[in-house]
Amino acid sequence: MTEMVIDVKDVRYVYPDGFVALDGVNVRVLEGERVAILGSNGAGKSTLLMLIDGLFKPSKGAVQVLGMPTDDENFHEIRSRIGFVFQDPDDQLFCPTLWDDITFGLLNMGLYDDEVVRRTKDALRIVGLEGYEEKAPHHLSVGEKKKATIAIVLAMKPDVLILDEPTANLDPKSRVGLIRLINRLHEGGEITLVVATHDVDFVPMVADRAYVLDKGKVLAEGYLEDVFSNFKVMEETGLEPPTITRLFKLLNRSIGREVIQSLPLTVEQALYEIRQYLVVRSKIVDP
Ligand SMILES: Nc1ncnc2c1ncn2[C@@H]1O[C@H](COP(=O)(O)OP(=O)(O)OP(=O)(O)O)[C@@H](O)[C@H]1O
Ligand SMILES: [Mg+2]
Repeated sequence: MTEMVIDVKDVRYVYPDGFVALDGVNVRVLEGERVAILGSNGAGKSTLLMLIDGLFKPSKGAVQVLGMPTDDENFHEIRSRIGFVFQDPDDQLFCPTLWDDITFGLLNMGLYDDEVVRRTKDALRIVGLEGYEEKAPHHLSVGEKKKATIAIVLAMKPDVLILDEPTANLDPKSRVGLIRLINRLHEGGEITLVVATHDVDFVPMVADRAYVLDKGKVLAEGYLEDVFSNFKVMEETGLEPPTITRLFKLLNRSIGREVIQSLPLTVEQALYEIRQYLVVRSKIVDP
C-alpha cells in the first residue's frame, strides 16, 4: 500500500500579530507523488511548507509527515528526511563558505568524513557550482544562491523534496537543468516532491497534481489537466493557465469549436495534439 507522506488536516495557522495565514487547509500527499502548491502572492504557500517541515506548529488541526506528528519529539528526524529549499536563499546560507554550508547538515547527520566529501562534491557538480567551494555564499549571485540551497538539500538525500519558488531568478538554461534534475530524482527512486510556485509553465514539467491556495484556503485541488482547465478558479486566484493552454483555448474560441479537445499543458503535448489533428484531417480530406 502506498504510504501517506504528508497529511495536513484541517489546519489553521495564525501569525503572532494575529494574521490568519491558513484556515481549514487539508493537503494529502502520497509517497512518490509530484504535487504543486499553486497560489498568487500572499496565498499562504510558504506558510504551508513551513508547517509541513515542522518549522511552524499549527494553531488548529494537525500535520503528520512520514507518519509522525510535527511535534518537538520528531523535529530532527522530520527535518533530516525532508529537504526544504526555502524561497529566500539568504535564510538557508549562513556559513563563511559554500563548502561549509553544504557539509554543515551532513556532519550534523553523523556521516563519516569521506561520505560528507563525496556527497558535497556530487551536489556541487549536479547544480553546476564546482569551483565555488571556498566562495562566501553572500557573494554569490541570486541565481547561484538558489542553486547553492538546492545543493545543500540534495546532499542530504531526502525522502521528500520541498521546493519553494525554485525557478525564481534562474536563467532559462538553469531552469531546464532544474526540471531535468527533479525528474531524474523522481524517476530514480521513491522521492516525493512538493513544489510551491506561481510559475504555471514550470508546473506541468514537474508535477501531476495541484492544490490551489487562495487567501489561506484551498480553492481547488486535482490533476493538473482539471485544475488548469478550470478558468474560473484561475481567474479567482489571479493565476493563469500555462501559456500553451491559453493559446489552445484562444484557438478553439477563434475557430468557434473545439479543434483540440484536451487542452495541452506543455509544448510537447501541444505538438502531439496538432499532429493527431493533422493526421485525422488529412484522412478526411484525402482518404
Ligand atoms: N511573520 C509574519 N507575520 C505576519 N504575517 C505574515 C508573516 N509572514 C507572512 N505573513 C502573511 O501571511 C500571508 C501568507 O504568506 P506566505 O509567505 O505564506 O505567502 P505565499 O503564498 O508564499 O506568497 P509569495 O508568492 O509572495 O511567496 C501573507 O499575507 C503574509 O503577509
Ligand atoms: Mg512564498
